[in-house]
Amino acid sequence: MNKTFKDTIRLLNDVEMPQHGFGVFKITEPSEMETAVLKALEVGYRSFDTAQAYQNEAMLGELLHNCDIARKDLFITTKIGNSNQGYDQTLFTFEESLADLQLSQLDLLLVHWPSQKHLFETWRAIERLYEEKMVRAIGVSNFQIHHLEQLKTKANVLPMVNQIELHPYLTQEPLRQYLRENRIAVEAWSPLAKGRILADSVLEEIAGRHQKTVAQIILRWHLQQNIIIIPKSITPARIAENVGIYEFELSAEDMAAISRLNQERRTGSDPDQVYPTI
Ligand SMILES: NC(=O)c1ccc[n+]([C@@H]2O[C@H](COP(=O)([O-])OP(=O)(O)OC[C@H]3O[C@@H](n4cnc5c(N)ncnc54)[C@H](OP(=O)(O)O)[C@@H]3O)[C@@H](O)[C@H]2O)c1
Repeated sequence: MNKTFKDTIRLLNDVEMPQHGFGVFKITEPSEMETAVLKALEVGYRSFDTAQAYQNEAMLGELLHNCDIARKDLFITTKIGNSNQGYDQTLFTFEESLADLQLSQLDLLLVHWPSQKHLFETWRAIERLYEEKMVRAIGVSNFQIHHLEQLKTKANVLPMVNQIELHPYLTQEPLRQYLRENRIAVEAWSPLAKGRILADSVLEEIAGRHQKTVAQIILRWHLQQNIIIIPKSITPARIAENVGIYEFELSAEDMAAISRLNQERRTGSDPDQVYPTI
């Protein structure tokens, strides 16, 4: 399976989204952000994933604005925060995000978490931003099948992406099957399970055989399933390591062994518990 760092996933509306982007959750220290983003750009990252909740859009925006990569070659995602949901708040805070990111158009806008109270109103605002071409693609994050089914009953434009927690300990098979059937691209957050599964003995054995690190094995496992990945690191050596996943291939047996590690184990919140609280 020939994969390259430049590979994209074609979304429902034909927008090409890089399959391998860079996440910036928890990077709030300006010097850390600068080190991470400059290293990420240097090793070839062009897609960046932030959120209103990360409180770092302005920092990221400044660095990307001043870098020597043409705007058309960058792909920038942000997310409407839980406390900013609702029709007016979504429109208002989107303007703030766009200004902080120093952009005139965003590449991908996501609803960060499903909300019982604001589901349809937030989506209606996002559809408006899409129709006005303020965003090139729209999607959701942390939506379960029933949230998507609910959204479908009133949506004019269907989400093009669902960004969900996904890694070898949480493989999300039924949800991914549903997303495939509905042509919604799967994007993995915490693709490395926040670094918490790197001592797994099955992963270590596979890594040893391929002379790769466990992080590289996990990221390659995602790639070979056409999952969009956004690993985060503030450590330059790891940022470089995480792109060294294009010159080897996992066998079908390796892939199956990794998928069997599923334990339905989350590192973050359960969307069904968050849903009634927003
Ligand atoms: N939609 C959502 O609700 C949601 C939720 C969570 C995350 N996200 C997005 O997904 C992105 C990635 O998720 P994440 O940041 O939670 O977790 P992650 O990418 O799975 O893991 C990041 C952690 O792993 C460490 N790490 C990275 N590469 C490594 C390597 N090669 N070897 C060893 N350790 C390594 C990092 O450490 P250092 O940084 O110290 O190097 C960091 O502690 C976020 O940045 C964010 O953009 C979205």
